[in-house]
Amino acid sequence: MEVIIQPTYAQLVAVSAGIIRDALLKKPNLVLGLATGSTPIGLYEALTRMHKTEGLDFSSVTTFNLDEYVGIPPNHPHSYHTFMATYFFNAVNIPTENRHIPQSTAVAHEEFCEQYEAAIVNAGGIDIQVLGIGIDGHIGFNEPSSSLGSRTRIKTLAQSTLKANASHFGGTVNAVPKMAITMGVGTIMEAKQCLLLANGESKAEAIAHAVEGPITAEVPASVLQMHPRTVVIIDEAAAAQL
Ligand code: GLP
Repeated sequence: MEVIIQPTYAQLVAVSAGIIRDALLKKPNLVLGLATGSTPIGLYEALTRMHKTEGLDFSSVTTFNLDEYVGIPPNHPHSYHTFMATYFFNAVNIPTENRHIPQSTAVAHEEFCEQYEAAIVNAGGIDIQVLGIGIDGHIGFNEPSSSLGSRTRIKTLAQSTLKANASHFGGTVNAVPKMAITMGVGTIMEAKQCLLLANGESKAEAIAHAVEGPITAEVPASVLQMHPRTVVIIDEAAAAQL
């Protein structure tokens, strides 16, 4: 694990956007694994700026999102489909057919999850997987106790995650969908490179467990210690307990 500590969120964003820009310039048909949540918003804004001002070209890029809530339609204001459209897809030139987000409305979930895994393999695997981290150490929606070898599947969300995400659903924990489809920990570990981003003191404990704690299913992000090319990019507040 390489750990890069930056003084501010803006600098964390600049470092992570720079890594993706360099990779994209080397490999125009980059396969990106994408995350939602507040953490990567600055990254998507920076990549959008690079697209508009430097002509950074996403026309051969393929993307796979980590996860999506189950039980809300893709056009729900707080679905991850809407999130990606709002913060990234509407502003850059990734072809629609190259964008993949788990289908919240899939009826045959198991079949859908198998197809999602197969699509990642068909695309040549994920080159760079962007990750945030939950306060309980989750990556994607792989909550504590997720099998470290897990594949794309449905997960029930932890109470702490429902609480953390309630602000997006009118502040009501009960309004947050209880389940999600998520890439598995094993799926994430197959990405050629992972960029784990975190900012703010609320993430300090999770980052300390993930980076310096034992590798355990209780902190799914800790398995990234076993990944040969994970870069953890955090601000000083998130690094406070290292
Ligand atoms: C959500 C997402 C994760 C994300 C995490 C942290 O539950 N499924 O992919 O990393 O929460 O979100 P935030 O960046 O808003 O703190």
